Amino acid sequence: MQKNKSLVLGITGGIAAYKTAELVRLLIKSNIDVQVVMTESATKFITPMTMQALSGKPVFVGMWDEGIDNGMPHIELSRHADAILIAPCTAEFVAKLLHGRADDLLSTLCLARDCPLLVAPAMNKQMWGNPATQRNFTQLAADNISIFGPGNGEQACGETGDGRMLGATELLAYVQAHFTPKIFANKKLLITAGATLEMIDPVRGITNLSSGKMGYALAQVAADMGAKVTLVSGVSHLSAPINVTIKHASSAEMMYNTVMDNIADQDIFIGVAAVSDYAPNEVANQKIKKSAESLTIQLKRNKDILAEIANRPNPPFCVGFAAESENVIEYATQKRIAKKLALIVANEVISAIGSDENQVTLIDDNGNHSFQRTSKVNVATILLEHINKLL
Ligand code: CTP
Repeated sequence: MQKNKSLVLGITGGIAAYKTAELVRLLIKSNIDVQVVMTESATKFITPMTMQALSGKPVFVGMWDEGIDNGMPHIELSRHADAILIAPCTAEFVAKLLHGRADDLLSTLCLARDCPLLVAPAMNKQMWGNPATQRNFTQLAADNISIFGPGNGEQACGETGDGRMLGATELLAYVQAHFTPKIFANKKLLITAGATLEMIDPVRGITNLSSGKMGYALAQVAADMGAKVTLVSGVSHLSAPINVTIKHASSAEMMYNTVMDNIADQDIFIGVAAVSDYAPNEVANQKIKKSAESLTIQLKRNKDILAEIANRPNPPFCVGFAAESENVIEYATQKRIAKKLALIVANEVISAIGSDENQVTLIDDNGNHSFQRTSKVNVATILLEHINKLL
């Protein structure tokens, strides 16, 4: 695991500043150290006291603040930072960055920095669409400044369009992606996730309790590590991970077809989805009416996606999940051999399903490697780092 990262969060004067309160909370929860610096106009939208309470550190606004020991806040505040994130970044502040202006603490800090600069624009759609703003952003990108967003949707001014700042959760995802070492650059990964749904009639189906959290976490972390990720998702209510191509496939057959359509050139295939082993022989066209005392539904076996991929000539590196309610290691070991997998992840299913945490054992040619119960995001990191070692 990497050491904790440290971020200077620069807040400029836009209404989206209110979202930074939540952002600071999420960053700190993710073990990212945050130093807040605000422009004078940002303090009209959210108070330094709020940001200080959330970040647990004094907030700096003016150039002449006496709270810095050496009297040089513009150098000192970013000296130990791994990055500076400007969120929200107004059109005016972008113009200042572009021209290397330094007439307040935050712009001076940016000019004097020795670390990457990340920018989350926030403005009304006309301001965003203005050729001057577009020119400025093109130049910022050329100057190697990372631009997160903007998003599209309803704006504080009542209009709808491009320009609004991304939400706190999305910004956290971009910051985490920025900080993750790119050990999977140039690698292609295909991941299945979530539950499948086998329809019985137009309104009923057979499904399971898989939430998709493990597969979605893997897709996000793999993309953060630089991989080109395709996520074939069954039923899940989670939001799409960032920088991931997502394809929805609800039934086992649709999932099989989607995986087969996308498997060419993949370096790694990870089957995380809880794929139904059986589907109804026939799907009724109309809602089935109740009549007799009992009803029998004939089921047919679905194809095993993972086993089929792993048994191809020149298969990608194949990883399976074995979520078992008993004899976890024994069943997982048997599955790894039967499906010819390089690696299988064994876990006890009842405590893992729907949870944000998982306790896993990785089983490969070298034996069993057990890990403490931890978040699914941490499990994803552990698993991907392990795959990288085996590759
Ligand atoms: N899997 C798959 N296609 C299927 C069934 C399973 O790709 N039709 C994959 C899962 O995504 C998982 C692994 O195979 O990575 C093991 O799935 P699991 O449901 O635990 O095992 P099964 O092979 O279905 O065996 P059983 O249900 O008897 O435990």
